[in-house]
Amino acid sequence: MRDVGTTHEDLEQFLAGHHLVGAGLRREGRATPREGNTAAHWSWEGIYKGLMQSGKIVTIGPNGMTGMRSVVGIEARRFPIWMNAQILMPGERTQAHRNLRSETRLVCQAPKEAVFVCENQTYPMERGDVVTNPAWTFHDHWNKGDTPAIWVDGYDNGYNPNVNVDERLPKDAPYQAIKSHAGEGPIAVGDFRALPDDPVFPIPPMRYPWAATHGALSALRASGTADPYDGFMTMLANPIDGGPTLPTIAWHAQLLEGKQRTLPHRHNSTTFYFGFEGEGALVIEGERLNWNQGDIFAVAAWKWHHHEITGGGDAILFSIDDWPAMKKLGFYLKEEARGF
Ligand SMILES: [Fe+2]
Ligand SMILES: [Fe+2]
Repeated sequence: MRDVGTTHEDLEQFLAGHHLVGAGLRREGRATPREGNTAAHWSWEGIYKGLMQSGKIVTIGPNGMTGMRSVVGIEARRFPIWMNAQILMPGERTQAHRNLRSETRLVCQAPKEAVFVCENQTYPMERGDVVTNPAWTFHDHWNKGDTPAIWVDGYDNGYNPNVNVDERLPKDAPYQAIKSHAGEGPIAVGDFRALPDDPVFPIPPMRYPWAATHGALSALRASGTADPYDGFMTMLANPIDGGPTLPTIAWHAQLLEGKQRTLPHRHNSTTFYFGFEGEGALVIEGERLNWNQGDIFAVAAWKWHHHEITGGGDAILFSIDDWPAMKKLGFYLKEEARGF
């Protein structure tokens, strides 16, 4: 397969070979979308190499491309929600904006000096943190460290397909003023924060630190209450009402033990997964999707699926699912098999 090369053209070809396209490159890509139940699967190798090269040859921020450099699966945008991956190189800060969609982020790697800036507050980027930027909240990203910061985004683009009002700060004053840092004052990191003036819109940004998520998974495991369909699974709850993470999508983290095999189920919501630790298989309608750490993959609505952890070690998946939107719309349906 073609290597990542040195030019934009080389990178486009490399990404296409991994069924990916990059922002700032040719969005339409060069490869034909794959078909089939297991087609929505993109390897970490393609994502990581594509991002790193993109970081070298695509300029972002006030003096470069408007928006963020990213790579996304060619097939991903067929879904109402999706994940893609982004990279922020050392020294970079993006031009702040807000828009009418939910933007959420799971940190893959970052130096300790890198931060997300959300509504005038900085949030650290530790591996495994999830940070939400609900609709109409200002956000930018700032890497003050000396290694690249990489994260996976979860979007609900399919729920506002008509007009995405996008308000961006001007190039000559591109950044938000920083008024507080996570952990300072009453608006703090974690589950404790001041209520917003309007508790409905916009919903405040939120950080779910990996330490807290990991603690929840460990406690679930200690309790022995594995879900037969999803293993030890927790939802990252909305801080206002304890419900799903956002009105449209819920973030989940799940731990599956070595050799664990879950029972099949199907639901008419869409799920996008990120392989956070370990490796395993998602079997969709009898077709096997083998995933490794760092891979992004999806299961389409109403497809029977179950997990198989082939190795002896634990596996941890993060996922986004649009069941909150489907429930609110009155369409949500789930079927669970009693056995194979
Ligand atoms: Fe954004
Ligand atoms: Fe599922």
